[in-house]
Amino acid sequence: MKTIKNICCIGAGYVGGPTMSVIASKCPEITVNVVDINQARIDLWNHEDLDKLPVYEPGLKEVVGEARGKNLFFSTDVDSAIDEADMIFISVNTPTKTYGKGKGQAADLKYIELCARNIAKVAVDDKIVVEKSTLPVRTAQTLKSILHNTGNGVKFEILSNPEFLAEGTAIEDLLDADRILIGGDETPSGQEAKNALSSVYEHWLPKERILQTNVWSSELSKLVANAFLAQRVSSINSISALCEKTDANVAEVSRAIGYDSRIGSRFLNSSVGFGGSCFQKDILNLVYIAKSFGLQEVADYWEQVIIMNDYQKRRFADNIISTLYNTVSGKKIAFYGWAFKKDTNDTRESAAIYVADALLEENAHIVVYDPKVSKETIYSDLEYLGNKSREEIENLVTVLNDPMETAKDAHAIAVLTEWDEFKEYDWQKIYDIMLKPAFVFDGRRILDPAKMNGIGFKFYKIGQTND
Ligand code: NAD
Ligand code: UDX
Repeated sequence: MKTIKNICCIGAGYVGGPTMSVIASKCPEITVNVVDINQARIDLWNHEDLDKLPVYEPGLKEVVGEARGKNLFFSTDVDSAIDEADMIFISVNTPTKTYGKGKGQAADLKYIELCARNIAKVAVDDKIVVEKSTLPVRTAQTLKSILHNTGNGVKFEILSNPEFLAEGTAIEDLLDADRILIGGDETPSGQEAKNALSSVYEHWLPKERILQTNVWSSELSKLVANAFLAQRVSSINSISALCEKTDANVAEVSRAIGYDSRIGSRFLNSSVGFGGSCFQKDILNLVYIAKSFGLQEVADYWEQVIIMNDYQKRRFADNIISTLYNTVSGKKIAFYGWAFKKDTNDTRESAAIYVADALLEENAHIVVYDPKVSKETIYSDLEYLGNKSREEIENLVTVLNDPMETAKDAHAIAVLTEWDEFKEYDWQKIYDIMLKPAFVFDGRRILDPAKMNGIGFKFYKIGQTND
């Protein structure tokens, strides 16, 4: 079996960085080079202060601290890393296309193609190329077409090895993965490549958790896994709207149905809507693929998951506006949280962005506090939507480092991320410094209605009526 001694990972993002750090720490005899074209990002991965790493994940700095400079290296020298590697992971971003055919739905594969062309140009000996990015089913065909036509005799095996980590628990998920999926050709050399990749993971995971499939099943399974997870969130969120009309409590409904072992209890937390860089992008991609094969009913079925998610975000914003006497113009609305979930500094597709946008349309003044998200990120998230100029955004949105200052003189607080610290705050003190009546809209269901009502808040929690 081919023994892997040197790994290159192209793309030092939320997946490439943590994944390779864990591989390096668990496989001390393998040299791992993580490369990226973004110099600023690489500088942060190399920063001597581990609190400055570009990705915030519990446990990440410890793993990086252990391996960096020994067998884990971050650099922008992409060509040298490709040249030295036996195995190359492609872990670049695959965002939704914003132009041309498939705009708004298809995955933009330009970064993947650039990587393949670069590998084809640089490689002088045989390589295993691993798709780590989430890709539309049949993308390996494109990689093969680029890599198998170099004419220089170099042989490439293409594997699909999608990543299932969730942000906020990435290190835990990597160290104790439910499964590792490896797709590859069903040929002797394909099998050898799959076994070589499997042996990397076998350093710390039992072999039974490593699944091997053909390459197409592997590519498609990643999109399907995300679609099923997101569909659970949209399903329970649809029920949260019904609970608010009927005095049922969505947490009790989740618990009642989750006890059924066929349904299971996880991923049934109603919220202001799912965010993150994956769910929406991957479902849109699934919808696009289904449509492109003429499967309109399949496309419509999955699109509904996104429609329900948009509805949930809009419903939350509308409830704030109608409850505040149908106008938020000039009112101070404090946002607790901006990240798309707790324990990450990632804000991509965060519900907070869309709730803020809806309130800004009504001329609200928004003041944001998030323990891990910078002012610059918040401004550029809003600017990216294209609905307001940078100047308008800076006039209407203030970002503070202090949760108390954020709540001071606010008409309302909206909880947009479930950061643990929000539960620990002195809510009586917060009540005292807010304008009265003091409204709290809990989009993450982390606060206790009895306590909040007892203090005197007008308290609204997604998925239940105010007791
Ligand atoms: P990211 O945007 O955080 O990182 C991607 C990196 O790739 C960027 O730093 C970018 O500069 C770099 N890059 C782009 N083109 C390059 C090139 N030609 N050469 C070198 N570097 C290049 O993205 P991410 O969140 O790490 O996601 C990467 C892939 O993994 C995506 O396909 C995503 O769908 C998938 N994925 C993400 C998650 C997640 O939780 N974020 C989980 C599972 C799978
Ligand atoms: C997801 C998948 O879980 C992971 O396997 C895949 O590799 C990448 O996409 P991620 O987006 O990082 O991971 O986080 P996840 O925990 O799935 O949460 C996604 C969104 O759904 C968050 O906004 C979260 O708050 C929301 N969510 C999740 C709910 O609203 N309710 C739930 O019960 C679970």
